[in-house]
Amino acid sequence: MGNSRDFGNPLVDDEKSLLDLLPEFMEIWEERPIKENYFGMTFNHSFGVFAIARILNLPNIIESGVWKGHSSYILRKACPRARITSLDIDFGNLVFIDESITYLREDFGHVDWSQVDPNVTLCFFDDHVSSLQRLYEMKWWGFRYAIFEDNWPAGEGDSYSVRHILDHYAHDKLERFSNKKLTLKSLVKRALFESVLTRYYFHQHLLRRENNADYIALIRNIDAYWEFPPLVKYPENNWGGSWAFPYDAKNSLLKLESDGKLIKLESEEPNRAFHYGYLALVTI
Ligand SMILES: C[S@@+](CC[C@H](N)C(=O)[O-])C[C@H]1O[C@@H](n2cnc3c(N)ncnc32)[C@H](O)[C@@H]1O
Repeated sequence: MGNSRDFGNPLVDDEKSLLDLLPEFMEIWEERPIKENYFGMTFNHSFGVFAIARILNLPNIIESGVWKGHSSYILRKACPRARITSLDIDFGNLVFIDESITYLREDFGHVDWSQVDPNVTLCFFDDHVSSLQRLYEMKWWGFRYAIFEDNWPAGEGDSYSVRHILDHYAHDKLERFSNKKLTLKSLVKRALFESVLTRYYFHQHLLRRENNADYIALIRNIDAYWEFPPLVKYPENNWGGSWAFPYDAKNSLLKLESDGKLIKLESEEPNRAFHYGYLALVTI
């Protein structure tokens, strides 16, 4: 039951079959060491990462963007025997540490990956770096599987996402969040910074001017794009609006109304608890 953006082979033929993993996931979720994961993944994306990693079952995982360590915990539970390498440029917030994981304070693009078999490695990106840049780097080393957590819809986000490309949407502002209010001072500062970056756009990849080439090249280079369906869909999207285009998402696997029990799982406000940001599996 793909939506219009999916193409190539999906991870599963019937998305409802993902629910087979739910009972095990719920136990892992209940035991999670980090209960408050502001700025990190909550329920929907945690299930998505768990299910994709478990079904692919690859021997190597590279995680980029660790924060407190919640996603590392989910990946370790999904694949108890995988060799996990977790990257962050700042480990100052780390809470959950797993001794079987190799931690590197480094950017994915600056690591020598020649000792890792790229054909059997899952890359998980939750680092707010341009997804296009990450796809270039994956191609450079021959990696084939990636989860993109920051898969912002058009008009939102602080990095260029695969979904932006598919919707022909530029990322020409450092940050776009329709529900975020900025002070005049920070708006002016940001506008100055953006004007310099835009003028010298060919020297960096933070911003991306609108263009058609990214879409054409993406379609040529990737085998499949598959958005993980939300487990539970809150009536409002993450930015407080409706799920109409460009915020459209697949049907949820569970009904929010008929499963009040799930809502009580979370102490955070429900729209945050059921945050859904179009987490996608991309294969190249
Ligand atoms: C949203 S948090 C990650 C949340 C985490 N995956 C979770 O769900 O629990 C983003 C993290 O990316 C890190 N980060 C920023 N730039 C990065 C880069 N170039 N490479 C790796 N990590 C980066 C930040 O330091 C931050 O810890």
